[in-house]
Amino acid sequence: MTRVKIDKSHLLGQQDIDRDHLQMIAAINVISDAIEDGECELCKELFNTFIFVCGEHFRKEEAFLSEVGYPDLERHAGYHDELLEKAEAIRAKCADMSDKHEMARRFDELAVSLIDDVIKGDRELLPYLAEKRLVAV
Ligand SMILES: [Fe+2]
Ligand SMILES: [Fe+2]
Repeated sequence: MTRVKIDKSHLLGQQDIDRDHLQMIAAINVISDAIEDGECELCKELFNTFIFVCGEHFRKEEAFLSEVGYPDLERHAGYHDELLEKAEAIRAKCADMSDKHEMARRFDELAVSLIDDVIKGDRELLPYLAEKRLVAV
């Protein structure tokens, strides 16, 4: 199962965004443990919270980017939507979590796309935020 260790590649240098990302990564690790332990009910609850936390973060990040005039906001918001769609699809399958291994496989896929595409993907914001002196570089 996916256990994510935090490293520099997960951080942007913008406090609010970084705090949310760390929270999302921590949530992934907690859910991984719950799946591993076969804690179906707990897992469903955690998963709902996880989707909520991701949704809130995306909304906040998009509001921030809009406020600072980030020019490629629409495309960036598209990545957020894709991730949420994936997460919703897995949540729907979660209703029948009788197959722990299948669930683990799907969750691993989601975790990898959240970390590699979405959290690390936020690094594409860096040049613009640095230019506007909105991140500690
Ligand atoms: Fe983000
Ligand atoms: Fe983002």
